Amino acid sequence: MTARRLLAIESSCDETAAAVVDEDLTVVSSVVSSQIDLHAAFGGVVPEVAGRAHVELLEPVVAQAIEMAGGTMTEPGIVGVAVTRGPGLIGSLLVGLSGAKAMAWAWGVPLIGINHMEGHLFAAQLEAPQVPHPHVTLLVSGGHTMLLLVKGPGDYELLGGTIDDAAGEAYDKVARYLGLGYPGGPAIDRLAGTGDPAAYRFPRSMAKDGLDLSFSGLKTSVVRAVDQAGGDVVVADVAASFQAAVTDVLVAKSMAAVDQTGARALVLGGGVAANSALRAAAGAACEEAGIECFLPSLAMCTDNAAMIAAAGWHHLDHVGDGLELAADPSLHLELEGAQP
Ligand code: KG4
Ligand code: ZN
Repeated sequence: MTARRLLAIESSCDETAAAVVDEDLTVVSSVVSSQIDLHAAFGGVVPEVAGRAHVELLEPVVAQAIEMAGGTMTEPGIVGVAVTRGPGLIGSLLVGLSGAKAMAWAWGVPLIGINHMEGHLFAAQLEAPQVPHPHVTLLVSGGHTMLLLVKGPGDYELLGGTIDDAAGEAYDKVARYLGLGYPGGPAIDRLAGTGDPAAYRFPRSMAKDGLDLSFSGLKTSVVRAVDQAGGDVVVADVAASFQAAVTDVLVAKSMAAVDQTGARALVLGGGVAANSALRAAAGAACEEAGIECFLPSLAMCTDNAAMIAAAGWHHLDHVGDGLELAADPSLHLELEGAQP
């Protein structure tokens, strides 16, 4: 008997992605076409440019994912189409969603609208299906920073979130200020490896009490330090010191969340979870606390469609979305507790 397969499409920002994933969460194919080169010249994602690029890339990326899984565009061999419907850039979302609707209709299979952040939440399970519940997940992407208690698939309680910039946003803004280009996170990560993380003592904002986070003060401190030196700084030292401050805060808050909830594991997700310093520090803190730490591979941290398929499998039995399914650029995750 052949395995049941789901096709997923992700186009919420600047990656056009498609994947085919089996019911047991085996990733049969995962194709990610990055638009980095298109946007780099502008220093960030240009929504208009992203939307147009998705139009050109969607069909070939989907065809490639299906062919790698042994199907064809006429006989795809899938039981449903999962697609990101938000949050993200509206023009980008609409391209993926419209394509997914057309394909689901033509193939006569269910359409499943997925929240992009729930995709990031499921990413770790693609590689580690044994992640124990309840666990704490630190979701750190370009637009969101959340600490969640995951009691089971689809059962999330919000423990804390950023009160201003998301962690990835802080990386991108500081990188842009330091002239490191776009995308900022990987550039800072690379450069920080050659710098001194103790060169500057940037503030570790604990956003008062509780499990909320804040990064805008840190960004301001970086700008002030560089200004005060008249721009005469070793950029690698600034990058390393900034990264150390972000990492300290993220790990301290994550471990406080673990303590508070008695969770048995810490899971990381989202683009910033690809950061080398954060991965090392989270792993060390978990080892010291005697709990498991689950770090998705780098490709599963940043945007991809395999994680959307994983979330899609969870929803497939519960929902079949109609063709009227709408994109929602500020879609919220269904949570217990207030939105960050
Ligand atoms: O999850 P993601 O790919 O897209 C969103 O859903 O936003 O996250 C993108 C963010 C960007 O802010 C990018 O700079 C950051 O993740 N990022 C990193 C690293 N790789 C990507 N930040 C720090 N270190 C990295 N290695
Ligand atoms: Zn993302």
